[in-house]
Amino acid sequence: MKGIVFVKFNEFVEELWGEEFWDTLLDEAQLSSEGIYTTVGTYDDEELFTLIGLVVEQKNISPKDAQFAFGKWVFKELLNAAPAGAHNFKDVFEFLHAVQDFIHVEVKKLNPDALLPEFEFLSETPNTLTFLYQSPRNLCYFCEGIVHGLAEHTGQTVEVSQTECQHQGDSRCVMEVVKV
Ligand code: HEM
Repeated sequence: MKGIVFVKFNEFVEELWGEEFWDTLLDEAQLSSEGIYTTVGTYDDEELFTLIGLVVEQKNISPKDAQFAFGKWVFKELLNAAPAGAHNFKDVFEFLHAVQDFIHVEVKKLNPDALLPEFEFLSETPNTLTFLYQSPRNLCYFCEGIVHGLAEHTGQTVEVSQTECQHQGDSRCVMEVVKV
């Protein structure tokens, strides 16, 4: 996974629980990178899962809540790093289409080693959008959080749920976003 995700996870943890807690995580995690991340680097996905796992253990929260909170927090940071043009999308549904058709495509062009999810849009009405979240990294709860961060950015209120989820034994993850 790209370094920006690790650098932002570091900032997220320090903002919530302080620098000392981050250092404790690194001591416990024994990572091959030693936790020295740069935005331009690329690191083993497992390092992120190890760090999230330790937060879950030490702060007694669920993996779902940890991924969701990080996703919600990180959206504004992704937007800062987004290709020019990403700021033009003012509606959550429009933005989600743009992530699949344009934003992640540009991210991949600039960073060929980026590993991005694929969204397949299944249905859309003025208030409800459903799409398939496809990624071998299975970060659907992180994705739910990012959609909430996105709605904060557009000034809309949404409910995000999964009508099917691989973590619940289903064969795929179907995200449902409802404008309320
Ligand atoms: C603001 C514009 C956005 C930018 C610049 C952006 C960029 C990125 C980058 C750089 C990564 C890391 C890739 C890697 O580690 O190799 C990533 C991952 C990801 N992005 Fe985006 N993204 C944006 C918006 C979104 C939105 C709105 C969603 C939610 C629907 C989303 C969902 C995800 C997910 C779930 C991942 C984790 C990787 C995975 O699931 O396989 N992104 N994105």
